[in-house]
Amino acid sequence: MAVPDGAVRVALLGCGVVGTEVARLLLTQGDDLAARVGARLDLVGIAVRDTSVPRDPVVDPALLTTDAEDLVTRADVVVEVMGGLEPARGLLLRAIEHGAAVVTANKALLGADGPTLYAAADQAGVDLYFEAAVAGAIPLVRPVRESLAGDRVTRVLGIVNGTTNYVLDQMTTSGLELDQAVKQAQELGYAEADPTADVEGYDAAAKAAILASLAFHTRVAVDDVHREGILDVTADDVAWARRTGHVIKLLAIAELVEPEGTEGAAPGVPGVVARVHPALVPLDHPLAGVHGAFNAVFVEAQAAGELMFYGRGAGGAPTASAVLGDVVTVARHRVLGGKGPVESRYAELPVHGVGEALTRYQVHLRVEDRPGVLAQVAQAFAAHGVSIETVRQGRAATDGPPVAGDADGAGDRADILVVTHQARDADLAATVTEVGALLVVRSVLSVLRVEGA
Ligand code: NDP
Ligand code: HSE
Repeated sequence: MAVPDGAVRVALLGCGVVGTEVARLLLTQGDDLAARVGARLDLVGIAVRDTSVPRDPVVDPALLTTDAEDLVTRADVVVEVMGGLEPARGLLLRAIEHGAAVVTANKALLGADGPTLYAAADQAGVDLYFEAAVAGAIPLVRPVRESLAGDRVTRVLGIVNGTTNYVLDQMTTSGLELDQAVKQAQELGYAEADPTADVEGYDAAAKAAILASLAFHTRVAVDDVHREGILDVTADDVAWARRTGHVIKLLAIAELVEPEGTEGAAPGVPGVVARVHPALVPLDHPLAGVHGAFNAVFVEAQAAGELMFYGRGAGGAPTASAVLGDVVTVARHRVLGGKGPVESRYAELPVHGVGEALTRYQVHLRVEDRPGVLAQVAQAFAAHGVSIETVRQGRAATDGPPVAGDADGAGDRADILVVTHQARDADLAATVTEVGALLVVRSVLSVLRVEGA
């Protein structure tokens, strides 16, 4: 669609942490952006909930409106940085219906109902871009969707939530409690409006769904992603991780698997597993050196090998950088005619549960300290075909954290730390259930997956 009056009209939905920085770049870098696009980007309005809220001086109050429904019909490019499912979804659909290209940072919406938006944009022949929805400033969506379009991606693994990385990092390096660190992440603008989305892993799961869909040309919904957050990670877990040469990171992993026929999977048919959970990462692994709200993602592809993407995964200005990259791209398309690639789902691979993933466990047990206990524990692992890599034992009183009900005078206790070889997650989980039920096992202190070793 040509640009009638020489300028591309841009509407901004939202003027919070990200929206303010998007407005700043649009308003302060106009000449450069015009040169790159081939036409001026004219910010025609900014939709907010409340126009009377004090804003950054860069935002001209005359641009503010609460009538987003009207605003989206007056633009060539609509940028959605308001968040949430509605009214964001309805507004984007309305914008698409009116022929506007859309740019969104809203991973929650794309994870929940991306296909509706992709289909609408495809049908209307307009662009739908969302680089900022995954890993903030890091160019990741476009490399996976476009640069690797000629390769076969086999695995995507990394840290995609800045808030939880900040929280775990603060727990590790400064000994902060989880609540204190979450509050700091909110103050720094990393956390979602409701930080539950971050700490319970919903945000990372939405990003994993988006990445898995792009990487494997298969529709992966957020509900398909196995999700565990960081609320159960304790200071003791963090301390034990360090003692064993690891750090704990919340990882998002999407990979191709060859299932063994359980959990509804047909043997021999490759499928996709997507999961988000805390994991032990060896201290010498590059992901262990990812601090603060930074994100880092490894992409493994058959011909390219291993690629690593690293940068700021959250915050207003970094996210605005990714948004503006999309705005410039779709505005260029508008000026030159044409549009970018549409979502590709041709492969339609089966999506399996986490039970089909291959991983390793570190299991921390408090047991009775008497002959034959280790043999019983080892037997439970063997019964499920899980091979033990290392076992470390120490006296509970000196080598492990205290456990409620332990000082009952009923005899000595020992702590055992078992690290397994790689096995199916379903077999590892069944092993832990069996071990936990043994009479000689007083408590399963923690179970963490080990990745990157
Ligand atoms: P904020 O909560 O800071 O800002 C939201 C903005 O949207 C506010 O200006 C708010 O108006 C406006 N808004 C919300 N609901 C409505 C509504 N119903 N009608 C009109 N305006 C509305 O959010 P963020 O800037 O942090 O996040 C925005 C989006 O970007 C989200 O989808 C988030 O997931 C995503 N994102 C955020 C990142 C970050 O680091 N913060 C990083 C990557 C993506 P008002 O100001 O009047 O309240
Ligand atoms: N709340 C998100 C995070 C923002 O902490 O990563 C970036 O998507």
